[in-house]
Amino acid sequence: MSLEFDVVVIGAGPGGYIAAIRAAQLGLKVACIEKWKNPAGKNALGGTCLNVGCIPSKALLASSESYEHAKHGLEGHGITVKDVSIDIKKMLDRKDAIVSKMTQGIEFLFRKNKITWLKGHGRFIGREGEAVRLELQPDEGEYEIIQARNVIIATGSKARHLPNVPVDNVLVCDNEGALAFDSVPKKLTVIGAGVIGLELGSVWRRLGAEVTVLEMAPSFLGGCDAAVAKEAEKIFRKQGLSFELGVKIGEVKVAAGKGGSVTVHYEDANGKAHSIDSDRLIVSIGRVPNTEGLTLDAVGLATDERGFIPVDDECRTSVPNIYAIGDVVRGPMLAHKGEEEGVAVAERIVGQKPHLDYNCIPYVIYTSPEIAWVGKNEAQLKAEGRAYRVGQFPFMANGRALGMMAADGFVKILADEKTDEVLGVHIIGAGASDLIAEAVVAMEFKASSEDIARICHPHPSMSEAVREAALAVEKRALNM
Ligand code: FAD
Ligand code: NAI
Repeated sequence: MSLEFDVVVIGAGPGGYIAAIRAAQLGLKVACIEKWKNPAGKNALGGTCLNVGCIPSKALLASSESYEHAKHGLEGHGITVKDVSIDIKKMLDRKDAIVSKMTQGIEFLFRKNKITWLKGHGRFIGREGEAVRLELQPDEGEYEIIQARNVIIATGSKARHLPNVPVDNVLVCDNEGALAFDSVPKKLTVIGAGVIGLELGSVWRRLGAEVTVLEMAPSFLGGCDAAVAKEAEKIFRKQGLSFELGVKIGEVKVAAGKGGSVTVHYEDANGKAHSIDSDRLIVSIGRVPNTEGLTLDAVGLATDERGFIPVDDECRTSVPNIYAIGDVVRGPMLAHKGEEEGVAVAERIVGQKPHLDYNCIPYVIYTSPEIAWVGKNEAQLKAEGRAYRVGQFPFMANGRALGMMAADGFVKILADEKTDEVLGVHIIGAGASDLIAEAVVAMEFKASSEDIARICHPHPSMSEAVREAALAVEKRALNM
């Protein structure tokens, strides 16, 4: 039997499922091939983001923040709480229920948009005229041949592991295991002080683990503006996360079994040998694109030297009717980046001309306080030789922040020296993930810092700090 579609999407993560929905909205006959199985052995949509990424991690971040708040954050408000305790099973069940709700929500959206969900592994087998031929390999039953007028590859990414350090997701964990510890480890080592290391390191630290983060780079959060990275390091160390920067990881020894342990041998920045024992290890050293078993060569495609599928600015591969989006192609590995690419590709397939400005993609790290930015940082502007002015405003001087006991951090705006166009906005503070949206809108509309400064912001609100930072570009902040 051969199935025929206008568009076949491979992968139902945020890139793929959104591309499928947009293509269906545009009147195309769409199928999405997805092989993911959840821990209960059930097929599931949503990819990394919904199953073992963005959504479960944010659920645990919220639970652990609530616990810490109940334990340490209420006394200053004059509220005494006694006997605060954790029920880890309940916490994990809540997270799993959110994941189920969200992934089932996509099943509903597929039905609503008449998208065919093909359950199993998809791979290319060749071309027939203009059409692309694929094979669906279900877990059970016959393999099926699929003909597609267009294919969107959205196969995402998987955790990068250390060579010779097998991940069992019990003692040595990547993101999957780290989101499902059945008890709070006494001691937890994290390799990699990137986004996952900081977010999940924070979760388990708040719940009571003694957390040590080992980072290869000599500096902290290299992708952030340096002032934000410096502030973040200071705050996280104060919270009790312990960091070793500039390390070289050596042998990792695992004593398996119940009550097992992990020993990580490493050299510090001065070349001195150390070892650290812990109950669990999280390896969060980045992610690699996932093209396993796609047989790209059957349609004349190949990955680049880093494993990504090469695409142009419009997500076209070298084969005209095959596109690739999300984590499997260049650019930041972020759910919303994949989603925007998915929408744009679906629209291009029907001849529309959407535009995606990669410079306006926001980044967020959901620590406490949150870190968010969009556009260029100071180091990048200096490297480009672009003259700029800086406006910065601390949350310490914001009444709402004080009321909420969220006075840590600041907003920093970088604007072009001559035109005043906003070139970058960097925020460390409570609610930065929402505050950054104003900066994204401003940059999409090529606003100047004066435009932001002249917009009436609600009082009292954290967003007033954004306006004050814009005023500070002209050295005329009103409350500082
Ligand atoms: P994926 O979500 O990886 O989905 C790819 C899908 O393709 C998978 O379901 C896979 O089963 C399927 N697939 C692969 N090959 C085949 C095949 N041959 N046949 C059939 N199916 C196939 N990003 C954010 O923006 N915000 C966050 O807060 C955030 N938090 C994160 C937290 C963690 C712990 C992790 C690990 C990641 C987080 N990310 C976050 C990153 C985000 O999850 C990814 O950027 C996003 O999921 C990428 O989407 P995608 O559609 O490209 O791929
Ligand atoms: P990452 O790229 O954010 O950080 C990896 C860190 O590990 C880097 O600091 C790197 O220098 C370090 N490292 C690499 N090799 C090492 C080694 N051998 N020894 C010690 N340190 C080493 O990767 P991470 O945290 O694994 O996350 C993967 C991706 O998932 C992120 O880049 C991001 O795209 C996405 N993500 C996004 C989130 C968000 O948007 N809030 C949350 C979590 C993940």
